[in-house]
Amino acid sequence: MADLDDLRDGTDFGGSAAPAGGFHLKGQAGQDWGLRARLSRVFDPADGKTVMLAFDHGYFQGPTSGLERLDRSILPLVPQADALMCTRGALRTTIPPENGKGIVLRASGGPSILKELSDEELAVSIDDAVRLDAAALAVQVFVGGENETKSIKNLTTLVDQGQGAGIPVLAVTAVGRDMVRDARYFRLATRISAELGAAFVKTYYVEDGFETITSACPVPIVIAGGKKVEEREALRVAYQAIQEGAAGVDMGRNVFQSEHPAAMLAAVRGVVHDGLTSSDAFDLFQTLSH
Ligand code: R5P
Repeated sequence: MADLDDLRDGTDFGGSAAPAGGFHLKGQAGQDWGLRARLSRVFDPADGKTVMLAFDHGYFQGPTSGLERLDRSILPLVPQADALMCTRGALRTTIPPENGKGIVLRASGGPSILKELSDEELAVSIDDAVRLDAAALAVQVFVGGENETKSIKNLTTLVDQGQGAGIPVLAVTAVGRDMVRDARYFRLATRISAELGAAFVKTYYVEDGFETITSACPVPIVIAGGKKVEEREALRVAYQAIQEGAAGVDMGRNVFQSEHPAAMLAAVRGVVHDGLTSSDAFDLFQTLSH
C-alpha cells in the first residue's frame, strides 16, 4: 500500500493553459486519440512528413528483384525509415518486433500478376491488425478499374473497422496499365479516397499539376516511387512532390533496386526531412555510395 503520510493538496493551478496545439497532419485533428497516435508513428510529428519504406510487392509479384531475400535487403534499411509498408507475412517472418517503426500493414490482396489485379479482397482481419500493432492499414483502390466498386467497398469496410480500432487507413490509388496518369485522374482518385474515409492517400507524382492534387485532397498525400529510374531522377521527383505539397514518400523499388539502397534512402530522407534540394541529395547519395 502506498505511504499515506504527508498527502499534500495541490496548490499550483495558476497561469494560462498550455497551448492545445493543432495536430501535425492535414484533416486529422478531429480523429480519436489512438488513431492520431498511430499516425504519429508514420509521420514524424516534428515536421509532419514521412519516409515510408515499401516492400509489400511480394503480395502479388512474388520475389521481385531486390526483394528475393527480405532478411538481407530490407532489414539493414529499417533504421533509416520512419515507417515500413509490408504484408503480415513479411512482418512476422522477418521484421523484429523491437524495430520501433510505424507498421503500415498491407490489408488487401488476392490476384497475382497472372490475373486481373483489381479483383482484390480484404486480406487481413482487424483483430490481426491489432495483434500486429499496425500503425495503419493499406488498401488498393482502383478508381476507373474493372473492379472499381469492389475495391471502394474494400476501402470503406476497412475504414469502418479501422475507425473502430483507432487504426488509420491508407488508400493506395492503383492505375490500370491502359489508363492515363494525369492530374485530373489523381484528383479524382485521391479525393474519392479521402471523402470515403482514408486518413492518407498514396498516389503517383505527375509533372503537370501535382499541386492541384495535394490541394484538393483534404488528407495528406504520399507518393509511390514507381518503377526504378536513375537515382538523380527519383530524387528529383521526390523533391518536386514535397515542394508541391506531398507529406512524404512511400518508396520501394527506387530504394531496394538501387545498387546502394542505404545511400539512396539517406538521400530521400534528406529531401523529405532536411530540406535538401534534389541536387544536394544526389551529391549525398554519391558521397555515401563510395
Ligand atoms: C504496390 O502495389 C505497392 O503497394 C508498393 O508498395 C508501392 O507501389 C510503392 O512501391 P514503389 O515505390 O516500388 O512503387
